[in-house]
Amino acid sequence: MKADRVKKTIKVTFLPFETCVEVASGISILEAVQKTGLPLRTSCGGKGTCGDCVVRILSGTYRKKSSAALSDRLVSQGYALACQTAVKSDLILQLPQFQELSIKSVVDTRFFQKDRLSGYYEVEPPLRKIDLELSAPSLEDNTSDLKRLERELGKKISVGHLHCEHSVLKKLAYTVRQSQREISVVIFDSKEHTTIIDVFSQAEEKEIYGIACDLGTSTVVLHLVDLQSGEILSSASSFNQQIKCGEDIISRINYSQKPGRLQELHDLISGTINHLVEKTTATAGVSSSEIYYASFSGNTTMIHLFLNLEPRFIREEPYVPTLNQVPLVLTRDVGLNINPEARITCAPAVGSYVGGDITAGLLCTPILRDPDRNSLFIDVGTNGELVLGNKDWLLTCACSAGPAFEGGGIKCGMPASPGAIEGIKIHDSGQLEYKVIDDAKPKGICGSGLVDLLAELFIHGYIDRNGKFDETVTKEIVLDTEEGKGFLVEKAQKSFWGKDLVITEKDIAHLIRSKGAVYSACAILLKNSGLDYDKIDSFYIAGGFGQRLSIENAVRIGLLPDVDRQKFHYLGNSSLLGAYLILLTEKNRDFINQVADKMTYLELNAEPSYMNEYTGALFLPHTEMDFFPSVKKLFNANT
Ligand code: FES
Repeated sequence: MKADRVKKTIKVTFLPFETCVEVASGISILEAVQKTGLPLRTSCGGKGTCGDCVVRILSGTYRKKSSAALSDRLVSQGYALACQTAVKSDLILQLPQFQELSIKSVVDTRFFQKDRLSGYYEVEPPLRKIDLELSAPSLEDNTSDLKRLERELGKKISVGHLHCEHSVLKKLAYTVRQSQREISVVIFDSKEHTTIIDVFSQAEEKEIYGIACDLGTSTVVLHLVDLQSGEILSSASSFNQQIKCGEDIISRINYSQKPGRLQELHDLISGTINHLVEKTTATAGVSSSEIYYASFSGNTTMIHLFLNLEPRFIREEPYVPTLNQVPLVLTRDVGLNINPEARITCAPAVGSYVGGDITAGLLCTPILRDPDRNSLFIDVGTNGELVLGNKDWLLTCACSAGPAFEGGGIKCGMPASPGAIEGIKIHDSGQLEYKVIDDAKPKGICGSGLVDLLAELFIHGYIDRNGKFDETVTKEIVLDTEEGKGFLVEKAQKSFWGKDLVITEKDIAHLIRSKGAVYSACAILLKNSGLDYDKIDSFYIAGGFGQRLSIENAVRIGLLPDVDRQKFHYLGNSSLLGAYLILLTEKNRDFINQVADKMTYLELNAEPSYMNEYTGALFLPHTEMDFFPSVKKLFNANT
C-alpha cells in the first residue's frame, strides 16, 4: 500500500474526563467528541452559529474553519468551535463546560459551634498511629516479631481482640530489623476488634490522614484531613466523570444495564476521586499512601455505583436498594489510590431516594438534638429531598425537581463556579445589576442567580404568574430567540463566551416546575405531620445554590414558604460537612446509623394529593396567593 494512502490516526484526549479516542486526520473535533459519547451542546446542529460546542485546545495542531460565533479574544486563548475545527495532530483539549470548579469556602464555620450541630465535633477517629520500641530478640528470648509487637502495644493501649493484616505480617520482619526495632503501627479500632493495618520505621516520619468526600451526581468535592488534629489541609472539587454516561441518576442506572457498564461507571467515579486525592495531596505535600480512612456521603445511587453494586432495583418498584447502611469497606475493593489497607465508611441512606447526603447533612444542623423544636431540612438538587421533625421523630420524602437550580436544562445555566452570575437585581428604572463569582466576565447564571432573576422578573411585572412575558411591559426588552421569547441578561460583547445571556420562557417553565416540585413536597410532609408552617421553628436549606441564595427571592417565587425570614438557615454543602464529621469520630457514624434507621420515608407517588399540590404550585408564587401574604402585598403594590 502506498504511504500517502495510509490514513493517519490521531489521538484526541478530552479533559477533565481524561477520555481518549483515536480518529482519522481531518475529521472535526465534534465528530471526535461524538465518538466518545461525552456531552457537548450543539444547538445549531454543527453550523458554527450557536457557539455551544466551544472547547479549549491545550496542545496539538488543528485547522479552523469559520469561527463566526467566537470572538478573537477567545480564539487567542485557544478556544475553538468543535464543529468548525479539524484535527491535524494529537490533541489535548478541555470541555470548558466541565472544567474544574474552584472551591472558595465549602465550610460554613457558623455551623462549627458545637451547640449548632447534631453531630459531635470531636477529633477521635477510630485510627491511631502508635510508636513502639521492640525488645531485641536473643537466643534466650526468641519470641516472634509479632508477639513482641503485641507485647509492647499492650503496654500502651488496652487491646482486646487484636488482628493483624497479612500485608503487615509480610513486611514485619524486615521493618523491625531495618528500623532497629523502632517502629510505628497504625491501628484501626472497631467494636469487635483492633486491627494493625500498617507498620513502618519511625524514621520514615509518616502521619495518618483521612479524606471526607461528597459524591454528588454532578460534582464531587473532597477534603484532605489530618486525622491527629482534624484540620482540613486542602480541598478540591471536580465534575463527576460519570456525567458522560448520563446527567442524572436514572439515566446512569439505565446506562449501567449493559454488560461492562456498571464497572465503567464504578471506574469513572473512582477515577474522579483519585484525581482529587492527587490534587489535594500534592497541595498539602503528603503521600496518598498515608491516607488510612475515608468517609463518603452521596445519594443512594452514587453510593451503589461507587461500591460497584447493582443499582437497577433502586428505580424499579418497590424501589429497594441493595443496602442502606454500608459496612466498612476496604480500599482495595473500590479501586482508590490511597493506602490499600485504608477503611472506607459511607453515610447511611434511608431508602432509594433519600441517601447518605441527607443523613450526613442532618448532622450539621441542631435537628437531631432538640425534642421540642420542629425543623424542616430542604436539599434542593436534581432530586429535592426533605426531612421534617425533631429529635423524637423524622419524616422524609424526595421529589424530582430536575437540574434547573443547578443550571441544568437552562440555556444560560451553569453551576456555581467562577464566571457564574450568582445574584441579580432589576432596579425600578429597569437597569439590571448582577454579581459574578470571582468578578469574572459572566459565563452563565447559577441557581441563586436564577432564583433572583425569576423573582425580579415577576415582581417587576415582566412575567405574569404563569411565567409568560407580559408584552405590554417588555416589548422593548424581550428578544425572539431560536427557543422562543427571551429576556436579555447580558449582551454578547460583555459575556465571556461572546454570546447573549438570555433566559427564555422555556427556561422559566423549567424553573417553575422545579420550585413547584419542592414546595408541593413540603406541603405533603406538613400535611402528614399535622403541622402548619408556623409550627416549624427552623428551616435548613442545603444544596447547590452556591453561597448566595436570597431567601427573600426564594419566597417570592414560591420555592420556600412565606414565614419569618429569621427562621431560614443556609447550610452550604452539608453533605460534605457531614462526611467530615463522620470521619472525625466514630460516635457520629453510630449516631447517624441509628437516626437513619428510625426515619419514616413517605413515597410521594403513593400520596393521592401530591398531584393536586404540585399543580397548585405551578404558578408564581402559587395558585393560592394567600399562602404568600408578603408576596401578595408586594405584587398588588406593583400592579
Ligand atoms: S454546534 Fe453550534 S457552533 Fe458548533
